[in-house]
Amino acid sequence: MIIAIDGPAASGKGTLAKRIAAHFGMGWLDTGLLYRAVARDVLAAGHDLEDIEAAKTAAQSINAETLDDPALRGPKAGDAASIVAKIPEVRAALLDYQRAFAHQEKGAVLDGRDIGTVVCPDADVKIFVTASAEARAKRRFLEHESRGDSVTYDDLLADIRQRDARDSGRSAAPMLAAADALHLDTTALDAEQTFAAALDMIEGKRKTS
Ligand code: DC
Repeated sequence: MIIAIDGPAASGKGTLAKRIAAHFGMGWLDTGLLYRAVARDVLAAGHDLEDIEAAKTAAQSINAETLDDPALRGPKAGDAASIVAKIPEVRAALLDYQRAFAHQEKGAVLDGRDIGTVVCPDADVKIFVTASAEARAKRRFLEHESRGDSVTYDDLLADIRQRDARDSGRSAAPMLAAADALHLDTTALDAEQTFAAALDMIEGKRKTS
């Protein structure tokens, strides 16, 4: 079984995907980490994030063993990722890795922006997770506050709006719900309620297919 979970930054899709994978004993790939790692490697090699050749080279030599790097977490890495993610050559170079992961024997859950539309259009279940920009900024703010980081809600909201615009406005594989995706609005849901709603969707889909 392949489950595709797409949605904007801070929608809760990562937490949800991880939980679903653990529940069903499937693999889990946070595809945003691939783009974050490409951006990290481009900068580390001394290039600009808009440098197509450098970004393509970084994407072609992506090393899955470096994806648990703590430096990939956080809004700065996410912002840099959304810049290299606009480059079609980068997206093409990352496709094989994502598809091979998706087709592993025990099944897989992939979360990102274009999983249901481009990476795995054949996924058994597609869920598009949304939440208002305000709710997402508030979640991010509480996460930062609990870690003692000094960030403001207004800055986080502006960052989320900018990233939404970049991810949905690009011409290469923009963030989009697949025509056959099930929509899950988590604005008023906590992680537990989101998981329960997604499980209902998955079970419902399995019964009908
Ligand atoms: O999910 P995330 O916040 O870690 O993603 C970081 C950026 O990577 C996001 O702003 C756009 C890009 N991305 C993408 O273009 N396609 C994906 N499947 C996943 C992420």
